[in-house]
Amino acid sequence: MLVDTYGRVATDLRVSLTDRCNLRCTYCMPEEGLQWLAKPELLTDEEVGRLVRIAVADLGVREVRFTGGEPLLRPGLVGIVAACAALEPRPRISLTTNGIGLARTADALRDAGLDRVNVSLDTLRPDVFHTLTRRRRHHDVLAGLEAARAAGLAPVKVNAVLMRGVNDDEAPDLLAWALDNDYELRFIEQMPLDAQHGWQRSDMVTADEILRSLATRFSLTPEKEDERGSAPAERWIVDGGPARVGVIASVTRPFCRACDRTRLTADGQVRTCLFAREESDLRGALRSGAPDEEVARLWRAAMWGKKAGSGLDDPSFLQPDRPMSAIGG
Ligand code: GTP
Ligand code: 5AD
Ligand code: SF4
Repeated sequence: MLVDTYGRVATDLRVSLTDRCNLRCTYCMPEEGLQWLAKPELLTDEEVGRLVRIAVADLGVREVRFTGGEPLLRPGLVGIVAACAALEPRPRISLTTNGIGLARTADALRDAGLDRVNVSLDTLRPDVFHTLTRRRRHHDVLAGLEAARAAGLAPVKVNAVLMRGVNDDEAPDLLAWALDNDYELRFIEQMPLDAQHGWQRSDMVTADEILRSLATRFSLTPEKEDERGSAPAERWIVDGGPARVGVIASVTRPFCRACDRTRLTADGQVRTCLFAREESDLRGALRSGAPDEEVARLWRAAMWGKKAGSGLDDPSFLQPDRPMSAIGG
């Protein structure tokens, strides 16, 4: 098991498969992109498969989520999913993507064993999409979402970040659209994980603001606390149900006490938290011939160092060295 000193057990593994991305969301990275990891630094497909196997077979992980950067840019993704689906006990397998290319790959991913997909979409307006992501790919994301739904990758969840003065007026429209299309929408508070270190608390659109805006058009009832489990999204029943809307309020309503996550970066470092300042190197162990038991021991030791929370409210808070796109969202 992956236990920490606060008694939390990590059963949910998030694996970043690449730090690259084909969008340039303003809250994430600069126009020119970042200094990407070089190929030899990335775990190979086999190394990813081995680490996921150790996590599932020896460390009690039951849920594996592939992220990026943009995970659909990883050429071996379908094979990685298939290897993961062949494990005993079979973990639940999900993907968090910006949706570009999903129209082409949704069926193959489902056939390989993908259970669920979360797609990021912040706006319904193509011009605002361009402002936010600096790319004209709105249509591709919508097509990807439709393909995911058609492939039966249910529930299809949509993640939206609201930026003040850009798309902060869109919450009710996004929810109406999600209800019409049978997507589960979640709003995410912007976090200080951008490569440019430009985040300011005063600029952030808060959960309270989002809920107030939604309440102008919908009636929202909080879901029962015990239905939440360790999910980062707090959910509300919309207009009497069955539809739900979520808010992931990492900044104003942190959920660290229930955190059940462990993370693996694309270059094989374990991170105990999005906001952790330390990493533990598993790639080095793999490449120097360590047996599975040694890799598992290193992973357990890393989790023992997991902090109580993100530290966002500490006056001494320092943003992690790596941006979100290199950690895995
Ligand atoms: P499901 O609800 O099970 O589909 O998963 P999820 O909501 O955890 O997955 P997703 O990858 O869609 O994550 C959505 C957002 O939740 C991320 O972009 C982050 O903003 C936030 N998030 C995910 N994991 C963490 C975490 O460990 N800590 C914090 N603070 N936020 C997280
Ligand atoms: N704060 C909040 N969410 C972010 N995402 C990327 N960067 C940030 C940030 N700084 C979101 C993306 C995507 C998910 C993986 O994380 O929009 O929905
Ligand atoms: Fe790419 Fe996601 Fe960052 Fe946008 S938020 S640039 S989609 S990694």
